[in-house]
Amino acid sequence: MAVDSSASTWSERFEQGLHPAIERFNASIGFDIALLQEDLDGSVAHARMLGRCGVISEAEAHQLVAGLEQIRAEAAAGSFKPDLADEDVHFAVERRLTELLGAVGKKLHTGRSRNDQVGTDVRLWLRRQIDAIDGDLERLQLALLTQAEQHVETLIPGYTHLQRAQPLSLAHHLLAYIEMAQRDRDRLADVRRRVNLCPLGAAALAGTPVPIDRRQTAAELGFEAIYANSLDAVSDRDFAVEFMAAASLVLAHLSRLSEEAILWASEEFGFVTLTDRCATGSSLMPQKKNPDVPELVRGKSGRVFGHLIGLLTMIKGLPLAYNKDFQEDKEALFDGVATVRACLEAMAILFEEGLEFRPQRLAAAVAADFANATDVADYLVARGVPFREAYQLVGGLVKTCVAEGTLLRDLPLGRWQQLHPAFESDIFAAIEPRQVVAARRSEGGTGFEGVRQQLAAHRNRLGTVGRPT
Ligand code: ARG
Repeated sequence: MAVDSSASTWSERFEQGLHPAIERFNASIGFDIALLQEDLDGSVAHARMLGRCGVISEAEAHQLVAGLEQIRAEAAAGSFKPDLADEDVHFAVERRLTELLGAVGKKLHTGRSRNDQVGTDVRLWLRRQIDAIDGDLERLQLALLTQAEQHVETLIPGYTHLQRAQPLSLAHHLLAYIEMAQRDRDRLADVRRRVNLCPLGAAALAGTPVPIDRRQTAAELGFEAIYANSLDAVSDRDFAVEFMAAASLVLAHLSRLSEEAILWASEEFGFVTLTDRCATGSSLMPQKKNPDVPELVRGKSGRVFGHLIGLLTMIKGLPLAYNKDFQEDKEALFDGVATVRACLEAMAILFEEGLEFRPQRLAAAVAADFANATDVADYLVARGVPFREAYQLVGGLVKTCVAEGTLLRDLPLGRWQQLHPAFESDIFAAIEPRQVVAARRSEGGTGFEGVRQQLAAHRNRLGTVGRPT
């Protein structure tokens, strides 16, 4: 049958090209061009394997590799120009390769399909991104650690229900976020193990009669193992969901930290000032200094959570094996990764140079409340009073102080002894905020000694790489 060869990318089964609007609707080249390097890497490995397995000659394999490397060079020079008719990055590369090599170019796609190809590309891309995000998380940990090391003895009110609870070492507070970031890193490392499986060679869905060697391509591309089942290989997007779930937790942590930074920077808390390099003004109110960075991080978390739900919804009704729905995984992953990375960088900079803690405001805050009330009860407990009884007594005392507008530290010894004969003059030292913090020596508590040990452990593990000077 006579066919206009320019009419369609497809086999001779097709007589007409796509409707222009459908061509636009169908194409992924507008975004999957981001996978170009990985597509070239995957194709180079595939071509070499075909040569080694005798599917094509070694000379042809060399030609294919050279052609693919030329496309890489053209891309670097800005002269590789895919167009809409290429549909996606895979076709764009194959088209250019055939322009460059003629008939040999047409041999590249032997024994594979775009279905296993795209899965390979996305995994190679995501694996690299996970490594970059791990570096971003480490930078944030170092920024937090460096701040924490300077503020072991700085006290900050600790809250529950956003009500003053007990004073803390500021370092202890910051260490909590270092721990969260560590879990994020561990989680991503675990996700990476399942990203690092090679689907290449599953072909369209059922494998191929071509005598390929999947293990060669997998090894060359640095994959840990190959998918055992070809159907699963081309239709598994669990790794994308898992990544987005891990990324969502990263953003959830960043968003909580952001919320604290926003509160701390407010007039009401006044625990930090924002440096000019990391704050913005108002177009109308000249006095304003706004915490745009943490606000944006808090706001952007929703995008990543949204991608997680989007991916889950995208895969949940799909019959085996490949379905075009999968093309939708890319924009979610691309935006998810870009968002996580941008937020991690901004937060790291915020803690490297954007926030200055205000020791005087912090000291005033911990001195002027009833956050030492538990310690009064603990004082009595240490002198044999049952905790619940002590708790009741101190509650009554706080009530009186509130009514009189005084603080516990201002009560004369007589009043204490009236309440309970076990009180002696050392009660005043016991309820000093510093002592209140120091006394919490239980493992993982805010006591200075324990905090110093934790800081040292993290410093030991993280080293000084990227430590801001
Ligand atoms: N652009 C497609 C994607 O991103 C590539 C795979 C297409 N495969 C197919 N049989 N239509 O998923």
